[in-house]
Amino acid sequence: MTKVEQRKSMLEEVLGGLNDPQKSLPSKYFYDERGSKLFDEITQLEEYYPTRTERKILKQNVESIGQYLGEKVVLIEPGSGSSDKTRILLENLSNVSAYVPIDISGEYLFNVANELQNEFPEIKIEPLQADYTRSFELLEVMPDGRRVVFFPGSTVGNFERDTVDRFLNVVADIASQTGAFLIGVDLKKDRQVLLDAYNDSKGITAAFNKNILRHINRILASDFSLSRFDHEAVWNEEEGRIEMYLICNEAHEVAINGTTIAFEEGERIHTENSHKYTLDEFSEIVSPWFEVKKVWTDENNWFSLQYLEPK
Ligand SMILES: C[S@@+](CC[C@H](N)C(=O)[O-])C[C@H]1O[C@@H](n2cnc3c(N)ncnc32)[C@H](O)[C@@H]1O
Repeated sequence: MTKVEQRKSMLEEVLGGLNDPQKSLPSKYFYDERGSKLFDEITQLEEYYPTRTERKILKQNVESIGQYLGEKVVLIEPGSGSSDKTRILLENLSNVSAYVPIDISGEYLFNVANELQNEFPEIKIEPLQADYTRSFELLEVMPDGRRVVFFPGSTVGNFERDTVDRFLNVVADIASQTGAFLIGVDLKKDRQVLLDAYNDSKGITAAFNKNILRHINRILASDFSLSRFDHEAVWNEEEGRIEMYLICNEAHEVAINGTTIAFEEGERIHTENSHKYTLDEFSEIVSPWFEVKKVWTDENNWFSLQYLEPK
């Protein structure tokens, strides 16, 4: 997509979401260069257990993971961000011949890919800037080998039931019959542990949540005032998910490309869902496409890394 097309599609999605009775914004717009850096800071927080738990699972089981992945692996990672967890695989496994990081946050993606190519000269690094919620062209010439889609970070929890189906379809296509899917899935657990992870005491998650407005202002020349919104993260027991909102603390209007959007005091913009699953729930969700062959977890059973093969 060209920059003009990207702007047009952002405008449509932003106005579409803000004109709904429950105002919402697509969570992918958290991520520009600043948003990607803020997310990295979140992953270092004491309260944010998912990253350190998943890293520990990867480190402790890297040999066994390598055996499941097989030989001459082409690792494809949608939403690769800092590729921090992938480094654990690249450093410890000799069977990865190519790595294709895919991310919407282009500048950040290409910087990380350059660093990786320097660190791992023997591995072919082929970055791809794309939006994985839309159909995207994989590389024209994909490196040869067994395609393994790596999707850590429980990013799968950000999808709704209908969009997760679409995404799983895409992954099944990429992996093809001979490939595999290695995915990090956050598990249901004590409510307070979840709430603390999304309401950190340093306010980094709040800054990350508000960055969506800053990003939209920059691209669409809108005039969101960040101080008029507060961060909120709540647990929805029925849906099994953390929901993030920006709550308006003072009635006002925002101008976006000639359209005016009114906000009441106390009105909320929904910015992200993070679904948590039990192992059975997740295996049921992927069952039309994949069979879960192996699950690695931590000692608290807070997080899981799962190896799936196409059915
Ligand atoms: C929660 S972070 C996870 C990063 C990394 N995979 C990890 O596990 O730490 C999500 C990443 O996905 C990217 N992302 C979010 N929505 C996207 C989309 N629709 N298409 C492509 N990348 C997206 C973000 O830029 C960010 O780098």
